[in-house]
Amino acid sequence: MKVVHTKSDLRAARALLPANTGFVPTMGALHAGHMALVQAARAASDAVVVSIFVNPTQFGNPEDLAKYPDTLSEDLAQLEAAGVDLVFCPTAAQMYPEGADTIVETPKLADMLMGALRPGHFRGVATVVTKLFNLVQPARAWFGQKDYQQVLVIRQMVRDLEIPVEIVAHETVREPDGLAMSSRNLRLDAQDRAASIVLSQALNAAQTMAAQGATPSQIVEKVSAQITAEPRATLQSVDIRAAADLSELPNVPLASHAVLLLAADFGPVLLIDNAILTP
Ligand code: PAJ
Repeated sequence: MKVVHTKSDLRAARALLPANTGFVPTMGALHAGHMALVQAARAASDAVVVSIFVNPTQFGNPEDLAKYPDTLSEDLAQLEAAGVDLVFCPTAAQMYPEGADTIVETPKLADMLMGALRPGHFRGVATVVTKLFNLVQPARAWFGQKDYQQVLVIRQMVRDLEIPVEIVAHETVREPDGLAMSSRNLRLDAQDRAASIVLSQALNAAQTMAAQGATPSQIVEKVSAQITAEPRATLQSVDIRAAADLSELPNVPLASHAVLLLAADFGPVLLIDNAILTP
């Protein structure tokens, strides 16, 4: 496995890889969720590139950026064991040299839901992923369904800007008790960790209700009550939207796929989760 830190080394190493190269962009602190994307890329590609870059432009709060875990040597060991060919770990100065000015924006998708909670976040994601796609030039790239809105932003920008890459969404990888894997989970204390299973439990209850013909407002009411009943959870948002484009839905039993998006604080840690609701 080759590890490179500069754009020129990346381009030179990429040129030696086959056309059918898969790509998994990450911010490091790798867990089984990231590794599932790497394994899926490995299985479908002739070579795999992974990037590890904690992208400053997608963090609204400098403290969150400073607190982001750095586990580079463990990350590289996991990627090597998974058979990755090339890892790109640039510095912020490499990615955003003096004078950089261009941004990539998908305003309709980026300003709602998580984007309204974190203004500028998806602009930072779209810009850095465009740059990574242009550097790596993968045939396909893998993203986690856990960050549902992020996948839609990436699909939109790839379509609108004619970027020649196929986007593959991978289902959310969960702990045995249902909690979606996230580097943030390590920041939960034991009691908050135990309480956090309420999110996946609420998603499961919602899926049952949707299949039985409940309306969006009935589902939102039930899910909100279930999460609010957990004293360690502070509910931030519950939304049901069209799965394809996050547009708002009429308040009638679901006619097509919807997505239920949850955000709740457990102590200082904001957790997000989502599930597809099938009528
Ligand atoms: P990061 O949070 O490191 O996540 C990298 C990829 O792993 C994303 O596509 C994310 O959705 C996926 N992922 C995280 N947890 C997962 C889980 N439990 N199951 C399945 N997939 C999971 O997302 C980012 O980095 C950044 O925004 C990035 C796209 C790298 C741009 O900076």
